[in-house]
Amino acid sequence: MKFATAGLTVALAAIAAAVASGLLFEARRPAALTVPSLPEATLSVRGIPAPPAGGVACTQESQLRVGDTPQWRAIVPANRPQPVPSPALAALGRQLFMDARLSQPRGTSCASCHAPAQGFSSANGATHGTARGSMPGRTGPRNPPSLTYVRYVPPLYFYQDDDAQAPAPFGGLNLDGSADTLAAQARGPLLARHEMNLGSDRAVARRLRDTGYREAFEKLFGVGVLGHPRRATEALGESLQAYLQSAELAPFDSRFDDMLRGHDTLTSQEKRGLAVFRNPDQGNCASCHSVNATSTDPARSLFTDFGYEALGVPRNRRLAANARADAFDLGLCRTARERHWPEAQSWCGYFRTPSLRNVALRQHLMHNGDFDSLRDVVRFYATRSTRPQDWYPPGTPFDDLPPELHGNVNVVATPLNRRAGTSPAMSDEDIDAVVAFLKTLTDRRYLVR
Ligand code: HEC
Ligand code: HEC
Repeated sequence: MKFATAGLTVALAAIAAAVASGLLFEARRPAALTVPSLPEATLSVRGIPAPPAGGVACTQESQLRVGDTPQWRAIVPANRPQPVPSPALAALGRQLFMDARLSQPRGTSCASCHAPAQGFSSANGATHGTARGSMPGRTGPRNPPSLTYVRYVPPLYFYQDDDAQAPAPFGGLNLDGSADTLAAQARGPLLARHEMNLGSDRAVARRLRDTGYREAFEKLFGVGVLGHPRRATEALGESLQAYLQSAELAPFDSRFDDMLRGHDTLTSQEKRGLAVFRNPDQGNCASCHSVNATSTDPARSLFTDFGYEALGVPRNRRLAANARADAFDLGLCRTARERHWPEAQSWCGYFRTPSLRNVALRQHLMHNGDFDSLRDVVRFYATRSTRPQDWYPPGTPFDDLPPELHGNVNVVATPLNRRAGTSPAMSDEDIDAVVAFLKTLTDRRYLVR
């Protein structure tokens, strides 16, 4: 469930503003829309009602949400038509992704922080929780997310649950939804000082010319493309997008996927973990990290609903960005402010729920990389509310947010809703089982044979 704090009018105004600025899906409203029937379990996400078997015609105005995203379409991304990138474009994108000459100074590629061998996420040699960029000593404030299955992240849109007070945002790239498309996202790291540090579109175009890309780009994007800085960066973005949308990053061949396809190889401990993960009274993980264990289509189990939550992740005191006590990474509210959503501060501390596919490969976890072990993350969920002293300095709960924003942190969803000193919703054995289950989400190429 989503626990939005903004008032309804305010949120509606936000949506109107977002629609007006063209940020959401097209605002076309078809008279009727037929949705194929989905098994009930698909819709265990955020209390969304299941469409009746045999498909349903959505003629009711109330079911056509902002930006024309009928609820199950929007939230079960398998139903979205998936792009089929051109192989030539994807091949060029792959080459660019691995090319460490595209940084200043040279030596950092996209793959440095999104290493294919590590589930497309890596600290690039740093040990404090976020990644090193191309400039010596310069690191960013965030932990690079895994790019596997990134093609399923929808553009930012709003949706209102039946039991929610106000519509809430879903989707958008980056942990704060700040980029709408993969092609646009790529410009960020290329230019950013703490990442590849090229600084300007002009520098990007020059670097592409200097590194022998002219012919390949002209073949796909037209003669002279690298002579136009903005167009060159866009072409680069389109190529990277095609690669990130390719099947190489979304193989769906984990042991969990084998199980979905009827080859049941999960151990009893892993099955117990799945049960705890789904049980609304225990892990309740699937309420945000969506799973559909009864569909044979693994794209229905992306282990995220793309929603945003403020979990109160502890402050990572190893980060240079946190040297100043009054510096905070406020997540979604930066996007909210940039896009003029009213009451933007009600989204401070919110980050997008990540997919948990390949999560066992991650060196650091959570947006600020404060956690180094998967077990600690699961234990955090179990005991954040029952033993806060295990996670925060004495007397300072939610220490990665200024006190006036502590009210944004989710204290109502199980297992985060218990009182201090009471027993946690998951036992030690449950935690071990959930960790064992999460390890079944690793794609086959990463498994030691
Ligand atoms: C210095 C490390 C670093 C480099 C180099 C880097 N990234 Fe990232 N990447 C990150 C971080 C950190 C984030 C999260 C950013 C945020 O939330 O604001 C991210 C986010 C992303 C996302 C969004 C994923 C999601 O789930 O929303 C994509 C896509 C991406 N990077 C692609 C690329 C591409 C393509 C390149 C090369 C042009 C690249 N990155 C280079 C660190 C890096
Ligand atoms: C209320 C929604 C919600 C629930 C319930 C929830 N999560 Fe999360 N999860 C998130 C969000 C949001 C993040 C990212 C938070 C951040 O980085 O600040 C996250 C992050 C994670 C991460 C870190 C992933 C990474 O790549 O860094 C793991 C692991 C995880 N969750 C596992 C679980 C498990 C296991 C459960 C059940 C015990 C669970 N989650 C319950 C929303 C939720």
